Parts: sequence; structure tokens; C-alpha cells
Amino acid sequence: MENEVIIDLNQIVKKFYVGKENELEILHGIDLKVRRGEFVSIVGASGSGKSTLMNIIGILDRPTSGGYILEGVDICKANDKEVSHIRNQKIGFVFQTYNLIARTSALKNVELPMMYAGMSKRARTAKAKELLKLVDMEERMDHTPDELSGGQKQRVAIARALGNDPAIILADEPTGALDSKTGRMVMDLFHKLHKEKGITIVLITHSNELAEETQRIITLKDGTIIGEREGSAYAV
Ligand SMILES: Nc1ncnc2c1ncn2[C@@H]1O[C@H](COP(=O)(O)OP(=O)(O)O)[C@@H](O)[C@H]1O
Ligand SMILES: [Mg+2]
Repeated sequence: MENEVIIDLNQIVKKFYVGKENELEILHGIDLKVRRGEFVSIVGASGSGKSTLMNIIGILDRPTSGGYILEGVDICKANDKEVSHIRNQKIGFVFQTYNLIARTSALKNVELPMMYAGMSKRARTAKAKELLKLVDMEERMDHTPDELSGGQKQRVAIARALGNDPAIILADEPTGALDSKTGRMVMDLFHKLHKEKGITIVLITHSNELAEETQRIITLKDGTIIGEREGSAYAV
């Protein structure tokens, strides 16, 4: 079904130190719907709750209250084992600091999520090579992260995110540690994945310029969505 809501957050509240003297409410009732195939960005100052929200969308963390339906599945009713499976199958993560496994080749890094998904060695190696080719890193597949530049590491991380054909890519400041030229290359890769594979992308960035290239920009301030508009530089 085209344009179905794939991420559906309803009145999400996130508190830390619940019930303690220092209880903190970080997200104050977030309503957010993302449709299949959308390329959305979330912008906001440092500390506004972007990563907290991304962790909830990626089910790396649970909301304190509120509802979350992901591809029709009620996440609040799923247990931890089900949640790990859903995360592995549906979501590819890209982080600012790459989060690659040290002393492990690019190829093995890309294979890892497919291994967790139970794919055979032969199938996952073939797929990992294909994905490294897609991000133009096949010649470096035997290199370990410390032998790669920031932009190269991020391309490996993007290949890793694609292993299980996720419906969604969640990227938290993926260009934050890169110079602007390398960041540009990573952004171009997201556009390509969006257009050619129809992947839904949620990009967290504090670059307004990059956000303008996405279809929809959501602005977060102090844990509340204060605005939503179309990107002015989104090119179909
Ligand atoms: N695990 C945590 N425990 C306590 N406070 C946290 C935790 N994670 C985030 N916070 C707080 O939540 C606020 C929002 O953080 P974050 O979501 O990382 O913001 P952003 O990604 O927009 O910079 C910050 O004040 C941060 O200190
Ligand atoms: Mg953050």
C-alpha cells in the first residue's frame, strides 16, 4: 500500500529518573506520523531531544507513556525479544560516530546484522559485497575502520544499515563528524537510496541547509514539536 503511515507516534512522553527526586521530562507529548517512502528531517538545537526521539523511533528505548505503531505493529505491546527482531528487520541505523566494530573488516561489519538475522554465511557475504559496491567501498572491504577516513567509515555504516532491507533508515547526525564535502557525499547517498530503493528516511541534523533538501522538516524545541514545513530545496 502506497503512502501508508509507517511510523505513528502518539503523545510520546519520555522521562528519565522516573519517580526520583531528579525526574526529568525530556519529550512532552510528541505526535508524529511518517509515511512510507518519505524523507523527513528533524532539526533542533543541541539538547532539544532529537536523539531521545530517535532512540524511541528505533526502539532502542521505550517511551514513558504514549503509543507507537511501527508498520502496523503496536510496539508498546511487544516484548524485548520481539522488539529486537523488529528492530533488526525493519530499521537501519546510521550514527554520527559510525559505531563500526574495531579491528573488524568493513565486510564483516556489514555482515553482522545479517548474521544476527540468521542469514547463511554465503548469502550474507554476497549481500555485503553488493552493498559495499553500492556505496562505492568494495575495494576497501578488507580494511578495518582505523584504516578508513570518516566518510569511508560512514559509507560502510550505511551499507551495514541496508543489510536486512530495512523499510526505514534512522540517521542521527550522520554528517556531524564530516567535513562539508564528505557530508555532501553521504547526503547524496541518502537521496539515492530514497529515490532508487524507496526507503523511508528519518534524518536528524542540525544543518538547516541539509534539512532543506528533505521533503519535510520537523522542528523540535525543548522536547516539543514546534513546527513542520516542506523542505525548500527538495529535488524530486
Ligand atoms: N539517558 C539519559 N538520562 C538522562 N538524561 C538524558 C538521557 N538522554 C538524554 N538526556 C537528556 O535529554 C535532553 C535531550 O538530549 P538529546 O535527546 O540527546 O538531545 P539532542 O539529540 O537534541 O542533542 C538533554 O538534556 C540530555 O541531557
Ligand atoms: Mg543528539
